[in-house]
Amino acid sequence: MTLHWTRQGQDGAARAGLLHTAHGEVETPVFMPVGTAGTVKAMTADAVRATGARMILGNTYHLMLRPGAERVARLGGLHRFADWHGPILTDSGGYQVMSLSELRDMDEGGVTFRSHLDGSKHRLTPERSVEIQRLLDADVTMCLDECTPFPATEQQAAESMRLSMRWAKRCRDAFVPKEGYGLFGIVQGSTFPELRAESVAALTAIGFEGYAVGGLAVGEGQAAMFEVLDCTVPLLPQEAPRYLMGVGTPADLLGAVRRGIDMFDCVIPTRSGRTGRAYTSRGVLNLRNARHAEDKRPIDPDCGCPACTRHSRAYLHHLIKAEEMLGPMLLTWHNIHYYQHLMRGIRAAILEGRLEAHAAALEAAWAAGDA
Ligand code: GUN
Ligand code: ZN
Repeated sequence: MTLHWTRQGQDGAARAGLLHTAHGEVETPVFMPVGTAGTVKAMTADAVRATGARMILGNTYHLMLRPGAERVARLGGLHRFADWHGPILTDSGGYQVMSLSELRDMDEGGVTFRSHLDGSKHRLTPERSVEIQRLLDADVTMCLDECTPFPATEQQAAESMRLSMRWAKRCRDAFVPKEGYGLFGIVQGSTFPELRAESVAALTAIGFEGYAVGGLAVGEGQAAMFEVLDCTVPLLPQEAPRYLMGVGTPADLLGAVRRGIDMFDCVIPTRSGRTGRAYTSRGVLNLRNARHAEDKRPIDPDCGCPACTRHSRAYLHHLIKAEEMLGPMLLTWHNIHYYQHLMRGIRAAILEGRLEAHAAALEAAWAAGDA
């Protein structure tokens, strides 16, 4: 059987389930740490696993440029190359081409661009993106799409979405089915409900192992993002996993789970960890701030990560100020640990039918802060 998802519980629109992949089962709702270039930055694979994370994301764009998909395949695939033996989802490259590369040129066939590393010229088509993700050995392959820039007129959003839908069909045709592996379609359509509905209809007519909602967290704000989820998620098939791409803060994840999303990835916990920000059960702390310089308390007394069980805010503040490598390492560890803890708590609440009370308690504690 190809990659699939089974439901274990439901509370309102929120679902708890299991994603069955070639490299193991994953409990959902799930947050996938971002391992762009074959590493979750500042973390060993063992450390990522110790946070509770069971599935990570890799990027077609970065890995095709360096070290190259064929090289990763010759070295045994991304799982072996990166020593990550759990499931891996790879993004398709379209989003990263638009945000990172120079001189990109999109046409019906695909996108031509220059590498942000050395200026060399490359082309990504739906077929090549799927082939690269097969060479990497991704459990979940994502369709090549265009993440419609925000804001867009309805006509721009329609043309962009329809191109992504034609590419989705080409990705489906190029994908070689394999036990435990799957291909996800990506819903586009910006903030226009009719376009989102048209996109869902196009993707479900083709048929995918899972459905992602793309084109969000691009500047529209949380309220507009939730409105798009409100009009999109109910149209998606009940028995397939749903993935919200590139989202988000703890409050974004909670709101999206309540609207029926099962899977997430985001650079927030890793990237903000490297700049001294800690996400906690009592809101966000910026460890660069001088008010932490002699604070003996842990970042979060309720957290079981090494940063919180062994170190003070004062020490972490010092590491960040001194630009010591251990600072980003410990704060990344903490943030990923907190995100996994958050998702486990939400999942347990769904299974026990108490998600609304749990959500209210989480939101109250974030708002109360700790100062
Ligand atoms: N990551 C965040 N948003 C998107 C999107 O719309 N498409 C893809 N492929 N990746 C994303
Ligand atoms: Zn911690």
